[in-house]
Amino acid sequence: MSTSERIRLAVFASGGGSNFEAIAGAVARGALPLDLALCLSNRPDAGVLERAVHHGVPTAVLSPSDHPNPDTYVQALLDVLAAHRVNFIALAGYMRLVPAPVVQAFRHRILNIHPALLPAFGGKGMYGRRVHEAVLAYGVRWTGATVHLVDEQYDTGPIVLQEPVPVRQDDTPETLAARVLQVEHRLYPLALKLFAEGRVSVEGRRVLIRG
Ligand code: GRF
Repeated sequence: MSTSERIRLAVFASGGGSNFEAIAGAVARGALPLDLALCLSNRPDAGVLERAVHHGVPTAVLSPSDHPNPDTYVQALLDVLAAHRVNFIALAGYMRLVPAPVVQAFRHRILNIHPALLPAFGGKGMYGRRVHEAVLAYGVRWTGATVHLVDEQYDTGPIVLQEPVPVRQDDTPETLAARVLQVEHRLYPLALKLFAEGRVSVEGRRVLIRG
């Protein structure tokens, strides 16, 4: 993708989609200069799909479990992205690993948001409530949100933006998740805006932001 090409974004989500809502809201307000081209879920009952319909964003449901052959799954994924002329992907509560051929086809053009300060409290199996339980069990004073580029593993790609959130003595996984989520809803549209404005470059593990 050239730096001047307008982003046509696909959001991949498996759940309720509050981050999708934050992104779609920013686009609707004119605060995020990109086109929302597709909302893709692996679950037909995911709440995010209703939100997408409400915002007039095309939806697709595609699950690896519907494709016993991984190659046909990858091809179906690439086909739906091509059909909607997608050139950038944002994972927002997407509970599946993006297949390596898709990561390669969209190198440095897939973002994920994680509800902790990576590289702590990340990796396979570390999602949702489990992240906040682990944060509280460890006793760290700070947690937060991380937006990072996606590579072939869970939560290991170069970090774009992070914002800390203090852990309170009386926090439960739910109260902590709610405060982190508020930060996520601000941080994810901001990260996407940096890419939409062509201000991001990647040098190895380091993400450089101009201006
Ligand atoms: C968020 O906490 C995000 O960081 C994580 O999954 C959650 C998705 O929430 N990857 P929502 O579906 O966007 O409300």
